[in-house]
Amino acid sequence: MCIDTITKSGIEKYLNNSEKFNITVLKSVDSTNAMLKKMAVVSPEYTVIIADSQSQGRGRFTRKFHSPKNCGIYMSILLKPTLKAESSVLLTAAAAVAVSLVAEKFGGKKTHIKWVNDVLIDNKKICGILTEGSINITNGGFNWAVVGIGINAYEPENGFSRDIAEIAAPVFDTKAPENRNRLIAEVLNSFCDFYKNLKDKTFYNEYKSRMLTIGKPVTVIKNDVEKEAVCLDLDQNCRLLVEYKDGEKEYLSSGEISIKHI
Ligand code: BTN
Repeated sequence: MCIDTITKSGIEKYLNNSEKFNITVLKSVDSTNAMLKKMAVVSPEYTVIIADSQSQGRGRFTRKFHSPKNCGIYMSILLKPTLKAESSVLLTAAAAVAVSLVAEKFGGKKTHIKWVNDVLIDNKKICGILTEGSINITNGGFNWAVVGIGINAYEPENGFSRDIAEIAAPVFDTKAPENRNRLIAEVLNSFCDFYKNLKDKTFYNEYKSRMLTIGKPVTVIKNDVEKEAVCLDLDQNCRLLVEYKDGEKEYLSSGEISIKHI
């Protein structure tokens, strides 16, 4: 028996505007992103699927996202944004800031962000975000986007699995009723505030101030090719400006690019 059970009514209590969302809470699913993507065309914006565990939770680059029961939050939000597909990084960045602010409020520890989609506490990952979408080829915008958010609310009873034990951390140190319902609701509240005014990028300063990368050497991995660079800045579209050893500069959008801190 879990003392902090995720429920739809529990989440709705803490939402600013519960009518807006169409929330389904499941005990288990293969992947909330996979499920919501199948429903995306016929479902309204702000349809949200949340699961207590996932059997095939996915991260970027087809990595697995460990999703054990009773300790995580695995949530996907359906959006129908009026946004150019190349700006999808803004959705990920807005979600990262929403999680950061709420995790700081509840967990009491400062968060950092590893561009583009990881939220960290003490240099360990508390949250990963996977944004996927369907692009409208006639206008280069979105038919729909799914923002998938995976949060390590608690450390699993037997600890994090061996392959992530060194790099994962929880938001909460101890279990308490309603922790996860409140965390989910406040992340949705905060994300929606940012999303409503996405073009104003009200999350930009919060994002940039939490970045660990600026001014540091990084390895840029594109199509499996690694290149050393220095990270110079984050532009207003949340693209990372890097300078390679040969002096060439490039703005990186999230896409297929991965950054390794050196
Ligand atoms: C990453 O760390 O690369 C991103 C992880 C994203 C995990 C979340 S959990 C909810 C949603 N469903 C998935 O299968 N993945 C995302």
